Amino acid sequence: MNIEKTLILVKPDGVRRGLVGEVISRVETKGYAIEALRLLNADRGLLEKHYAEHIGKPFYEPLVEFMMSGPIVAIVASGNRVIEGFRSLAGVTDPTLAAPGTIRGDLARDQGTKVVQNIVHGSDSPESAAREIEIFFPK
Ligand code: RTP
Ligand code: MG
Repeated sequence: MNIEKTLILVKPDGVRRGLVGEVISRVETKGYAIEALRLLNADRGLLEKHYAEHIGKPFYEPLVEFMMSGPIVAIVASGNRVIEGFRSLAGVTDPTLAAPGTIRGDLARDQGTKVVQNIVHGSDSPESAAREIEIFFPK
């Protein structure tokens, strides 16, 4: 058994388009459990922590502006190998290339915006998951 937790975000494009239920449904239908959930407006300080690895990259500022453009939903999901499992459900970063059947492949496309808008975030390792869960659900 390798029960893990991961942090999922429904980004502002997903909330605006009414896809929160669709994302949760895909997570639950796959068999993962929802452990925590909150709707919030992320501020710059919080996003600076969350996206620390991207500070200085050309897409960083557009990414932060996009993530502050409306409410987001933060979710903790759990299950065996949920970290890689949710990344698989989400599909690759670029929604044009994300496989049909994935969240990004089915529900997003390139809108020609400064930063790619791709509905969801998912932690990419156990270390990232622990760090990100603490940011959005501090004890
Ligand atoms: P995420 O962290 O949101 O789950 O996405 P990811 O692992 O697939 O992608 P990552 O490399 O961590 O990038 C974080 C988010 O930044 C935006 N991005 N834009 N070249 C670009 O325009 C570019 N690269 C990354 C995306 O919104 C991506 O999800
Ligand atoms: Mg990432």
